Amino acid sequence: MLPAEIKETLLQRIAHAIHPREQAIDVMTIMQSHYGYMSDEAMEEAGGLLDMTPLELEELATFYNFIYRRPVGRYVLHICDSTVCWMNGHESLLQHLCTLLQVEMGGTSPDGLFTLLPVCCLGYCDHSPAMIINQVIYGDLTREKIDSVIHKLREQAHAS
Ligand code: FES
Repeated sequence: MLPAEIKETLLQRIAHAIHPREQAIDVMTIMQSHYGYMSDEAMEEAGGLLDMTPLELEELATFYNFIYRRPVGRYVLHICDSTVCWMNGHESLLQHLCTLLQVEMGGTSPDGLFTLLPVCCLGYCDHSPAMIINQVIYGDLTREKIDSVIHKLREQAHAS
């Protein structure tokens, strides 16, 4: 169950919408920030707030890359695998990341910190190869840049 404060915020958003379902992605995103991912129970709870069936929400959640239906790590790396990134070294960088994090695409690292997921073009092609980590975009990726980003995130995680 959501804390009363978050639930009230969501209900206010929904009340101000012309159609409650236009808030569906925002509601799931906020709930996901609280729960970590959208479990079946969370989907039912969201459906109750939005007056939508779990199936209607499921259709949105599976279409939208940033709603997670399974547990994910603290940092979710969405690696662009579209054409320009692919031409500019996507495969070798992905292999590097998999080795560095000891994870396969779609999985979570053994320390539970990093989940690796594919994503379509991020609109950042002029800085390809690119990825997004927890809503921060990183471009012009090289092995060295990836090493540096991962190192900083590990430090950040261990400091908190
Ligand atoms: S192809 Fe990767 S950002 Fe556009």
